[in-house]
Amino acid sequence: MDPKGRTEPGYRMHAFICGHSRPEGSVRGCCTDKNSLDLMRQFKISTREKGILDVRVQKSGCLDFCEAGPTCVIYPSGDWFQITEESIPSLVEFMRGGKLPEQYLLDIKA
Ligand code: FES
Repeated sequence: MDPKGRTEPGYRMHAFICGHSRPEGSVRGCCTDKNSLDLMRQFKISTREKGILDVRVQKSGCLDFCEAGPTCVIYPSGDWFQITEESIPSLVEFMRGGKLPEQYLLDIKA
């Protein structure tokens, strides 16, 4: 058993939010310029406040859908989202085991 009382590695669900940044004026832009790190913190705190402790929310490197960001991917389902302040309550519910918040799925054609 590890110091957190876990006997196996892993999480029921695992969310990654892009925390990549690029220099000003870069062609693709980046998620940190769209507030991704603050959104990641809000998502993480909200998940903890709801008592959802068997999941993990963390930043990642570039997820390579930069133009459609700020991007978020949640496993094991592998669903992709554009994370916004408005989307966070629905994403938290999804992490609790609720329905897929389809309205926030990442649209790379937009
Ligand atoms: S900078 Fe966020 S997906 Fe590339």
